[in-house]
Amino acid sequence: MMKPIIAIDGPAAAGKGTLARRLASTLGLPYLDTGLLYRAVGRRVLDTGGDPADPATAEDAARSLRPEDLDRSDLRGPQADAAAASVASIPNVRAALLAFQRDFAAGNGAVLDGRDIGTVIFPDASAKLFVTASLTERARRRWLELRAKDVDTDIATVEEDMRQRDAKDADRSAAPLREAHDAYRLDTSEMDAETAFQSALVFVRSRIGGV
Ligand code: C5P
Repeated sequence: MMKPIIAIDGPAAAGKGTLARRLASTLGLPYLDTGLLYRAVGRRVLDTGGDPADPATAEDAARSLRPEDLDRSDLRGPQADAAAASVASIPNVRAALLAFQRDFAAGNGAVLDGRDIGTVIFPDASAKLFVTASLTERARRRWLELRAKDVDTDIATVEEDMRQRDAKDADRSAAPLREAHDAYRLDTSEMDAETAFQSALVFVRSRIGGV
């Protein structure tokens, strides 16, 4: 029997990662945070002093991406966020990362989270979730994460950076952030992580059977 592929999409800091990781471990499936691919490409460009918005430089970085690049410790934070969103709007970068994502799930199935998993990478995924929350709530969560890491920032700056990145992800012509028509929408604005997980699990099990 084909192993299931679970697609989890949505805007930044909606709770996709926490949910995806837990679904993967509960269902015994490999997990891929596809945002790391774009972050690692952005970092490679910054390493060489290049401009993440330059299509040729970003495509070269995407084509030479190695799995170990995803283990770097500098893939989070405002500079990496912005570089990732820039390289992610370049069609040839997305094309270069497509095979990596499909190969990852081939054979064993997978849970993948990102922006276009259910719409572009795996339009035939076994189950699709669109995880979202209000901008105010997502900014508050990201700010709490940053504060826990002793990053000195204020909530208004975090909210404005997030608003700009969401707009860039939704407005780009290459694989924009869209809710798949057959996705289960989970608005976590007023939900804790446990409630979101239980709700997602019931939906996923209804699609893939009791794995
Ligand atoms: O999910 P995360 O916030 O780590 O993603 C960083 C950036 O990478 C996003 O703002 C988006 O521009 C890009 N991305 C994407 N497609 C994905 C995952 C991430 O375009 N599947």
